Amino acid sequence: MVKTVAIIGAGISGLGAIKACLEEGLEPTCFERSDDIGGLWRFTDEVEDGRASIYKSLVTNVSKEIMCQSDFPMPEDFPNFLPNHKYFEYIRLYAENFNLVKYIKLKTSVCQVEKHTDFPVNGQWLVTTESNGVKKTDIFDAVMVCTGQHAKPALYLENLPGINTFRGRILHCREYKRPIGFDGKQVLIIGMGNTGVDIATELCTKASQVYLSCKTGVWVFGRLGKGGLPFDLGFLRRSLNWINNIMPPTVSRWMLKKDMNDHFNHDLYNIQPEGTVWREPLVNEELPSRILSGSIMIKPQVKKFTETSVHFEDGSVVENLDIVILATGYEYSFPFLDESIIKKDENKGSFYKKIIPLGIEKPTLAFIAFILPIGPTMVVAELQSRWATRLFKGLHKLPDPEGMRIEMLRDEERRKKWFATSENNFRRTNYISYLDDLASDIGVSLNIWKLFLTDPVLAWKVVFGPCNSYQLRLTGPGKWDGAREAIMTQWDRIAKPLSTRVVKKKTKANLLSYIPWILCVGILLFAVCLKG
Ligand SMILES: Cc1cc2nc3c(=O)[nH]c(=O)nc-3n(C[C@H](O)[C@H](O)[C@H](O)COP(=O)(O)OP(=O)(O)OC[C@H]3O[C@@H](n4cnc5c(N)ncnc54)[C@H](O)[C@@H]3O)c2cc1C
Ligand SMILES: *[C@@H]1O[C@H](CO)[C@@H](O)[C@H](O)[C@H]1NC(C)=O
Repeated sequence: MVKTVAIIGAGISGLGAIKACLEEGLEPTCFERSDDIGGLWRFTDEVEDGRASIYKSLVTNVSKEIMCQSDFPMPEDFPNFLPNHKYFEYIRLYAENFNLVKYIKLKTSVCQVEKHTDFPVNGQWLVTTESNGVKKTDIFDAVMVCTGQHAKPALYLENLPGINTFRGRILHCREYKRPIGFDGKQVLIIGMGNTGVDIATELCTKASQVYLSCKTGVWVFGRLGKGGLPFDLGFLRRSLNWINNIMPPTVSRWMLKKDMNDHFNHDLYNIQPEGTVWREPLVNEELPSRILSGSIMIKPQVKKFTETSVHFEDGSVVENLDIVILATGYEYSFPFLDESIIKKDENKGSFYKKIIPLGIEKPTLAFIAFILPIGPTMVVAELQSRWATRLFKGLHKLPDPEGMRIEMLRDEERRKKWFATSENNFRRTNYISYLDDLASDIGVSLNIWKLFLTDPVLAWKVVFGPCNSYQLRLTGPGKWDGAREAIMTQWDRIAKPLSTRVVKKKTKANLLSYIPWILCVGILLFAVCLKG
């Protein structure tokens, strides 16, 4: 019987895990190596070992009504896309509201997690922590790993011949904090992910020239969607997801391409992804205009570096290069776990439902938020925790190994259909389908048809409106009474931060005011008829 749970990390995933444990009557203890909660979203000027590091100007790329925790809407006056300090504020509010802080041991890092000698029988873990130089080992019935996926930089230096001879400054995006020290410099940024492009658009107003080198192209979204609404409110909808799932991939690919190129022509800019539906989506409204005005120049892959220059694969050369920024992403790192449990550079499919390591004798170890959904990570993490805690308690079961294998093959097929490629994107997942999958395992998924009969207005909003996290609290275990209300009032919270200058809207003309016009037209028609 699982009772005590060790949670590693007090970022938003760790907090969600604590809450999920409490909802299931488990006893969580959360260990956090740094001196505060918030993980990635707590900005500091120093880079901390083992904790993700962000830049001062980071703004979320998913909007508040989509990304908030499922039973805790954001304050209505919060902007729709949050600067990192605002999201950190929200994390604090969440922790305080549900009284989660008392379960957290700050300045305590987990240095080892080992199977108990009787593991195959009891599924217990020996968790060794270190605090102020003092080491301590405790037994836990289950462990939830919430350490994030952005702490260990992936450099891929082998793809950059000659980088060691380059005499300018080289930094990983993890070390980038503010646009200081770049005035008048020639800067090369390698990697066209969200971070690389954020840094490029920030530096291009300071640097003499920014070059952005990319291997494969991307589809570029902007935060600003149709009618000025957050873009994700438009495309994260159940109705669209259904259509996309039943349509042949070629058709949905064509539609996506058309949609993206209506925004701006990716072919013309030579940044279209090759043949794929979705690669890493990019959310950056500035990029196209910066390319248009020449302050960012898109380049192909690097061929080699010399002491002062860079040569690209197309033969072009940039001389007098000052700074190279590697925005090449991150890799998994679980230094506290033995390789037999999870291989060190494991990027491939070795987790069932992307949560439980395959082949483990007892499913008492869960990995939370090691996934890249096309949608908010936090919402996925929260549901994963609810799924895992109920699994710990035996309220739902894993299939047998053969069943797992079949299921994983099916998921892989689906993934290929969606993400048509290629290397190392096992973590990429269709957001809504993945949520639904977990939700149905733990009995919180909605019976949409029934909902249309019992509560048609709500059903309409669930299917055709934005797919927000509240939908995961409408029914089943962990049901939240405020969920329906939160869905009904979502548009108020979206509009509220924009109403800082309220303009009196013209009152709608009522029918009476049209009477003179109707009379005029009537008389005219009458006159015409008489003449005829
Ligand atoms: C630049 C950037 C922007 C992003 N923007 C978005 C976005 O807009 N929307 C979105 O959905 N996602 C975004 N993400 C993804 C991000 O992963 C999630 O937003 C979310 O922060 C993940 O939270 P987490 O709690 O899993 O990890 P983290 O926030 O990284 O927290 C992990 C915590 O674990 C602690 N820890 C690590 N190792 C140990 C140990 N051994 N012992 C004890 N404690 C330990 C760390 O100190 C840290 O506090 C972004 C990521 C990056 C890098
Ligand atoms: C938001 O940014 C993170 C970090 O770069 C990325 O992993 C994620 O895919 C982005 N989300 C969307 C919806 O683009």
